[in-house]
Amino acid sequence: MYRTHTCGQLRLRDAGQTVTLAGWVQKVRNLGAMTFIDLRDRYGITQIAVEENSEPAVRETAARIGREFVLQVTGKVVERESKNLKMDTGEIEIVASQIVILNDAQTPPFTIEEHSDGGDDLRMKYRYLDLRRPPLQRAMILRHRMAHAVRTFLDSEGFLEIETPYLIKSTPEGARDFVVPSRMNPNQFYALPQSPQTLKQLLMVAGYDRYFQIVRCFRDEDLRADRQPEFTQIDCEMSFVEQEDVLDVFERMMRHMFREIAGVEIAERLPRMPWSEAMERFGSDKPDLRFGMEIHEISDLVKGSGFSLFDDAEYIGAVAAEGCATYTRKQIDELTEYVKRPQIGAKGLVWIRLDAEGGVKSSVDKFYTPEQLQTVAARCGAKSGDLVLAICGPKYKSLSQLCALRLELGNRLGLRDPKKFAPLWVVDFPMFEWDEETQRFYAMHHPFTSPKPEDVQYLESDPARVRANAYDFVCNGTEVGGGSIRIHDRQLQALIFKILGFTKEKAEEQFGFLMNAFSYGAPPHGGLAFGFDRMCSLFGGADSIRDYIAFPKNNAGRDVMLDAPSAIDRSQLDELFLDLKPVQ
Ligand code: AMO
Repeated sequence: MYRTHTCGQLRLRDAGQTVTLAGWVQKVRNLGAMTFIDLRDRYGITQIAVEENSEPAVRETAARIGREFVLQVTGKVVERESKNLKMDTGEIEIVASQIVILNDAQTPPFTIEEHSDGGDDLRMKYRYLDLRRPPLQRAMILRHRMAHAVRTFLDSEGFLEIETPYLIKSTPEGARDFVVPSRMNPNQFYALPQSPQTLKQLLMVAGYDRYFQIVRCFRDEDLRADRQPEFTQIDCEMSFVEQEDVLDVFERMMRHMFREIAGVEIAERLPRMPWSEAMERFGSDKPDLRFGMEIHEISDLVKGSGFSLFDDAEYIGAVAAEGCATYTRKQIDELTEYVKRPQIGAKGLVWIRLDAEGGVKSSVDKFYTPEQLQTVAARCGAKSGDLVLAICGPKYKSLSQLCALRLELGNRLGLRDPKKFAPLWVVDFPMFEWDEETQRFYAMHHPFTSPKPEDVQYLESDPARVRANAYDFVCNGTEVGGGSIRIHDRQLQALIFKILGFTKEKAEEQFGFLMNAFSYGAPPHGGLAFGFDRMCSLFGGADSIRDYIAFPKNNAGRDVMLDAPSAIDRSQLDELFLDLKPVQ
């Protein structure tokens, strides 16, 4: 046996026992007569003491060890003279009678403690060392517990976990595919699944009426804090269900998760907010409901007073920041710079201050009477002491800029407490999105999403008006999951492909397998997928999903630890019948 106990296990009640521990050296303190070693494993840290009168062999070994050496230590548990009550094992130490160096270690490139001195890049390169640190260990443990809770819940509801292949067929919708050349089928490529969408629908045709899988998905898209090129979904599908049936099961699953993992009770019935309402009130299809500061359209109140920026705008909206009338010029300039960043793209900010004495001042005093400005402020729910900020432009662009402003103000005012959870369903998404560049409609969710029955009549005459039976699970401003009721009717599916600009032949080539399967008795079905990494970061209270993935990629999609992607040998290329083009 390498060890009798872990480094997080021993307490005062164990004093007097002889034990053997194994772990890594976090720290060595050589005080001349005494040497103290902090021995760490994933369960905790235990102090090892080497005393003046310890065996010479033990003292000799202790003198040789350095940080991150792997040791096996045998000794007696004794009560410490100076206790450290901040540590679970802080009341005891082990007086070593034997130390075996199981392995030595180079000095690590950064400190492996709660807070590290290593920069992001260095820690990514030595990810296996970073993973030894308690915050990452807590993240991995959280992820494990969450996966376990998901499986327990879905199993209890009769869901079967079924795996689907990773080498599948490329489909042009959605993000870009990662592709894999086939040696046995020269000049042909598999694609890695962006999600197992069509496969889970085939499982419904096959009669497995409650399916789930905790599954890796691959998307070649630009990365952000909440996006990785490979990420994990809790992917689910059900047969013989309507939208409310799906929402009911997964609302219960989320209630189970919040209770088990976060110790938080969420509302008995979560709000269901139509997409159009979420856009109008919060400027986003993933509203952060932890705080108010809603967006209000003020176009009718401010147009026609000679302020050309507003007069010419399609839309003018504003938010009221509570207690911010005291913001200095510099603070307002900072916010203006914030919304003018290229990612947000606002032209500027118009401000109205309601001072404590009931006076009103604004950046557009020249164009509006104090009464007009008061009316605008009242529309936004502002009171004395508040600051109203307005943005104008094309409607949806302005709304998304107002959303960015609202979230930034929420951050500055401390209104986005990571320990608070405000989940909801966003429902009734538009079926299609018009793309100016390619002059065609795209499916807002995916091409298998069914339209609302009452909107089917507009499919051909006014596709933009059609709403889908699609829904997102949103919490604290993050889209944690999304899904839809699917089309199970071949004719309707063919019509949707047509609206999406597929010729009959192209639809047949891409999705023939699915359409064909639908001709053998497809049950009505629907489902959804949760972003598992996002769910972990939500529960862990972090912004980035990276910390919840053992070996993530960096923002350029690289694994800096493995140094991937990388070139491959000419012989490998030859086997695959591939030639490389020089990069322009
Ligand atoms: P969707 O594309 O909305 O739906 O994805 C579902 C959830 O997956 C998460 N997600 C991501 N997480 C990390 N990195 C990414 N690059 C990434 N992309 C998506 C999000 C999102 O809500 N097949 C459908 C689901 C269905 O209809 O059943 C699908 O994949 O949290």
